[in-house]
Amino acid sequence: MPETQPVAFPQSRTCPYQPPTGYDPLRSDRPLARVTLYDGREVWLVTGHGLARELLADPRLSTDRTHPDFPALTERFTAARGRTVALLGVDDPVHHTQRRMMVPRFTLRRATELRPRIQEIVDERIDAMIAQGPPADLVTAFALPVPSTVICALLGVPYADHDFFEGQSRRLLRGPTGADLLDARARLDAYFEDLIDQKLKQPEPGDGVLDELVHGRLRTGGMSREEVISFATILLIAGHETTANMISLGTYTLLQNPRRLAELKADPALLPGVVEELLRMLSIADSLMRRAAEDIAVGDTVIRAGDGVLFATSVINRDEGVYPEPDSLDWHRPTRHHVAFGFGIHQCLGQNLARAELEIALHTLFARLPGLRLAVPAEEIPCKPGDTIQGMLELPVTW
Ligand code: HEM
Repeated sequence: MPETQPVAFPQSRTCPYQPPTGYDPLRSDRPLARVTLYDGREVWLVTGHGLARELLADPRLSTDRTHPDFPALTERFTAARGRTVALLGVDDPVHHTQRRMMVPRFTLRRATELRPRIQEIVDERIDAMIAQGPPADLVTAFALPVPSTVICALLGVPYADHDFFEGQSRRLLRGPTGADLLDARARLDAYFEDLIDQKLKQPEPGDGVLDELVHGRLRTGGMSREEVISFATILLIAGHETTANMISLGTYTLLQNPRRLAELKADPALLPGVVEELLRMLSIADSLMRRAAEDIAVGDTVIRAGDGVLFATSVINRDEGVYPEPDSLDWHRPTRHHVAFGFGIHQCLGQNLARAELEIALHTLFARLPGLRLAVPAEEIPCKPGDTIQGMLELPVTW
């Protein structure tokens, strides 16, 4: 049993690509620590790489967010408890059925087929930045619109509505209160209700994932409206927020490591390894959450049924036993087996798509804007608070 005083969790980063310094005690307390949440509840925090992969694959840990014992990182999260979340919030066997339905849309082959379209989307954004001239906020000009446009095309959601859904998803992920979250959710529900009605009226279905759900499942009685909306919400939000944060924070991190950036520019073949190392180092989805549904023995310690179990990916992905000198950006060290996309049955459904987007976005950005640099001192650029997906709130750049 760890004997250190529980650390408060989560905390905000000061350097956007390093874990909060307040997590230092956790890094010497592997593989399992106690932490305190905002409401004073104490839960387990998994910090060791091997144990994380073991427990993320353990069916005794549940992701059912509607359970009253499910740990909540914020008051906002507590308010959201009432509703089942597709995929991410269901356990087997329901999860298995839902995942099997989605997998064919997110294979490596599908992501590879999408590459030319992703390249066009990236090029259009850079054309617009060049036409507008420097400086620019890379988040609004590039990092957000690229994955937003891609996921809209994949789902069959009109990109013209992006201001609306990006705004609501911001409120869901980091709005000020639980009431704000519930309001954002109600607005998204109403939006998807309308979109479903429009799709039902079309004589021929489009080729988006939502068209398939509406015509292949809802119309035939295989799925309720509520379920279709739940899929639409998670896919739309997970599909744009995460990748957008990786693009902005990945760019910032490369700009802050000029020697590494020069190496990448000289040899674009390094790109796949660079993306893996950035995923490991940035660990933008830093708090994965579970509830123990049964007692689980970990060495001499017992995680009791009902206990909250969190995973700090930024700490796990810096386990010195697996990644020597874990705080440095180094794509020559093996970066495989990181948990930036999670592990086990809930491992990221969109990872093939995300990798394709990140490779194309980062490569094209630095190839077409070789003089890209920060437009203000790095310390002045705000990063996101610790209780949400990590990334930059804005990224002023010039070239
Ligand atoms: C670089 C960008 C991304 C990162 C870092 C990321 C990270 C993650 C992580 C850590 C999980 C597991 C959560 C858990 O176990 O609690 C996850 C699950 C998921 N991600 Fe991603 N993600 C990214 C991009 C995407 C994209 C582009 C999509 C597209 C739709 C997506 C859709 C999903 C879905 C649906 C799940 C739930 C899967 C399940 O429960 O079966 N993600 N993601």
